[in-house]
Amino acid sequence: MKPVLKLAIQRKGRLSEGSLELLRDCGITFSRSNGKLKVFCDNFPLQILFLRDDDIPPLQILFLRDDDIPAIVAGSVADLGIVGRNLLVESRAEVQPVRDLGFARCRLAVAVEKTRSWAGLDDLEGKWIATSHPRILADFLERRGVDARIRRIAGSVEIAPAIGMAEAVCDLVSSGSTLLSNGLREVETVFQSSAQLVATPELPAQKSELLERLLLRIQAVLRARTHKYILLNAPEAALEEICRLLPGMKSPTVSRLNQPGWVSVQSVVKEEEFWEMVDRLHEMGAEGILVLGLEKMVF
Ligand code: PRP
Ligand code: ZN
Repeated sequence: MKPVLKLAIQRKGRLSEGSLELLRDCGITFSRSNGKLKVFCDNFPLQILFLRDDDIPPLQILFLRDDDIPAIVAGSVADLGIVGRNLLVESRAEVQPVRDLGFARCRLAVAVEKTRSWAGLDDLEGKWIATSHPRILADFLERRGVDARIRRIAGSVEIAPAIGMAEAVCDLVSSGSTLLSNGLREVETVFQSSAQLVATPELPAQKSELLERLLLRIQAVLRARTHKYILLNAPEAALEEICRLLPGMKSPTVSRLNQPGWVSVQSVVKEEEFWEMVDRLHEMGAEGILVLGLEKMVF
């Protein structure tokens, strides 16, 4: 029987939209009629590109609860998974980290009722904290030398103080709106999380080959998300300095403007560095600066 590369993603929740968007941006398509939980991709790998196409395992997507993904990948039921770092660390599942995917960023944080005074973590000494991440919380409290008691709850953690179950909670926060609507305020960050691509510990060779191809696409998409294409006009005298500021993928493209002494420079910059660079570029005499989004960036 032909092997199949199985990728587990979250069925619905914090990571599912980002996971589907990533697959879509990677050019991987599938049709998912009436909530099917197991689908084959139509176009990955593209068989025409392979000589030994019989050997190439097709890609299948499994839609699961995020909490189940670490164990399912550790146990080789799925070969790959996309899951939050919080669940990976909490579950202690033995999986291979492959790539931080950068989306679904959130944090595990301690929160207390907003009417409660807060002088610091010592306030939690001897108190109950409700969480669905007891291991991460226990490690954190131990590192900070706080002797608090942990009450495990699988969901709706934010309700705990209001029903007398705990004096504080330790839960995932992204926008903060769940805490706010439950009268809680964040007082301490415990752990930072984002979506991770993980693999089963011993991936067979054929499947690893396919993972490499998938990763090439993923990296191209992720890089494009954090970079911008920049075009500008500059006096030729400033060219050397500008090229040092905008090294690009190899080096910037420079072309001559139809005006003596002026050139056009094209390069790629990290989005987070762009605004800082604009000031420097202006100082160097650059003008007509255009910035364009990128779709894919392959090295
Ligand atoms: C988390 C957490 C909060 C909410 C916080 O649940 O338990 O309920 O998200 O997000 P906010 O700060 O944007 O309001 P999640 O969506 O991960 O669901 P789950 O725990 O059932 O998987
Ligand atoms: Zn969950």
